[in-house]
Order: sequence, then structure tokens, then C-alpha cells
Amino acid sequence: MPKHAFRTVPWVHDDDTPVETPDQAFLRISRRFWHVVARSGDVVPGGLVPVTLLDEQLVLGRTLDGELTLLDDLCAHRGVRLSMGALTSGGCVRCPYHGWEYDLDGRCTAIPQLDHDRIPATARVTSYRVAEQAGMVWACLVGEDEQPAPPPELTEADDAGFDLFVGEPLDWACSSFREIENFCDVAHFSILHADTFGNGREPVIAPYEVTLLDDGRTLSFDAAYPACDPFAEPDAEGHRPSFPSVFGYRVLAPFTVRLEGAAGPGTVMWIHSTPTSARTCRVFWDTAFPVEARTDFAAYAEFEEKVWGPDRAMVEGQRPELLPLDLTEELHLPFDRFAVAYRRLLGEMGYRL
Ligand SMILES: [Fe+2]
Repeated sequence: MPKHAFRTVPWVHDDDTPVETPDQAFLRISRRFWHVVARSGDVVPGGLVPVTLLDEQLVLGRTLDGELTLLDDLCAHRGVRLSMGALTSGGCVRCPYHGWEYDLDGRCTAIPQLDHDRIPATARVTSYRVAEQAGMVWACLVGEDEQPAPPPELTEADDAGFDLFVGEPLDWACSSFREIENFCDVAHFSILHADTFGNGREPVIAPYEVTLLDDGRTLSFDAAYPACDPFAEPDAEGHRPSFPSVFGYRVLAPFTVRLEGAAGPGTVMWIHSTPTSARTCRVFWDTAFPVEARTDFAAYAEFEEKVWGPDRAMVEGQRPELLPLDLTEELHLPFDRFAVAYRRLLGEMGYRL
């Protein structure tokens, strides 16, 4: 039996009633949080976009008035994908098959084959909370009667003193946990990224401390690191000049990271690792540069691509796919302080493996 095969078997109570698997627990707990489902620019007025979040297939739309709607991508009539239909000028999502229309709350408002007053109350699809902030569309799948977690605050992204670069989303075959932990893992810079910003001559990581902030879910740490200038020419020995920098991480657990200083002084980068399922994610990312930096966005995007590539290869091969939250299962050394704090916090949130 493969080492981790037992993890796919549901835990069983004494009375033999199966309880949820770690994957099911992951999907249930993650519904409380806000997740990025699209970049604002990808949802044009009058347009529909299919999105996947936590194993749910949804349709995201924007009316001509700019209002957003997020519904199950499944017509209540014959299960057709509503995202194949259209948004009407009246702001309803119209199924392409029989023309049923749903308002922003998912209520059916028109069945062309019926008089309006004969539309059954059961003709409806589930709608979800949706909001827009910092160039991204956010969704929360928590039930109507439940309280969602507070949404992240991303101040610099809407600040006129910054130019915002919004990256292409990345679809990775790994869990959001593994992706977030990779993004915050300072100990691999000098090894895996020696051809970009990593400093091959400085593999030892300066001690850093991780703090849990008062909100109970933000992990904060500043890691000093002598990063190399990825745009400089290497010297005769193949080394590029380095400069002292501090990577200021604020990890809004479980899936959003704010990283200050990594793309140059005064910059702020965010990543939002959206769990499309328990074991796959879509990474949305953007970076705010001080206006006076006059950043070459094309060169920056090319640089980030060279960083994401090796990261992706690592995380897509990691086993087990979710994080082992039992700290005895993998080795943790002093430079892994973030991973230890993150895994503990996820355990306290109810996640498990
Ligand atoms: Fe990396």
C-alpha cells in the first residue's frame, strides 16, 4: 500500500457511520473564507464567466450596470450550464437551452413556455456572496445563515501612489496549502532560484520569528535575505550582485499572502491561492509598485515566470497533496518556522490530514 493511501479512506465512528474525509473537511471549512475567483477585467459588463471554487462549478456575471452575480452553473430545469447562456439587458442570466432566466439572487423570473404567474417557487439556483476589491472578484460560499470570515484588506492595490500589475492566473495541480507554504518558504531561494533572485552563495537563512496577529489568523514575519538582482549581468564566476533586503510576509490564513519588498523597495505583492478543489488551485497574483519606480511590467512578468516555473514543478510533485498537519510527519528545522506556525494554525482552524 502506498504510504499515504489510508488518507483517502473516510474516518469511521464507533457506530460505523462514515465521517468526512480530510478532503471533505478541507472543502467544508474553506467555504467560510473569501477567495478570488476572477480578475475584475475578466468579467466585462454583460458577460458571463464559468469559474470553479471548492469543487463547485459556478457562473460569474456582471450586469450592464456593473453589478456582479455568482450562481450555480446549472439550470434548475435540465442541468445545462448557465455560463453557456447570456446576461440579458435586464440583468438576468438566461439559459441557452429553454430560455429560463434567473435574477442576481438566483430566482427564476422568466420561463418562456409559461405565463409569468405560473413560475414555480422551486425554479431557482443557488446564489453566493460576491464582492470586488483591488482589481479582483472575490467569492464566499458560506451558507446564507452563516457568518463569513472577514474579507482581506488590500489597501495599496487601490492607492493612486502605486501602479498595479495584475498577473496571469496560474492553474497548478497542487493544494492551496502546498502553494502558500512554497511562496513563504525562504529556505529554498538560494537553491531553487539561484538563476533569478536566489543567492547561491548564501544558503543559510537568518533567524526570523513568526507572530500570530490579534485577528487570530494573520501570520507575520520579516525575513532578511541577500537577494540577487535578477536583471544584472553575472560576473566571471557566474554570480550576480546581491543587495540586503527584507521580505515582509503577512499571511492571511488560509490562502492570501501579502509580501512586501520582494519586487524592490516599497513594492507589495499579493497572492491568492484559490482552491479550485482540495488538491488543485488557481493562483491569482498582483503587485503594487510605487509610481516613481516606473516599472517595466513586461520584464517583471518575464522574471516572475522564471520563478513560478521551478516552484510549480516542486509543489505539483509533493506528497501528501494536503499538508501533514501532524508536525511529526515531516522534518521541521529552525528556518521552517513559518511552516510550523502555518500548519499549527490550520489545525486550529479544523483542517486535518
Ligand atoms: Fe520559490
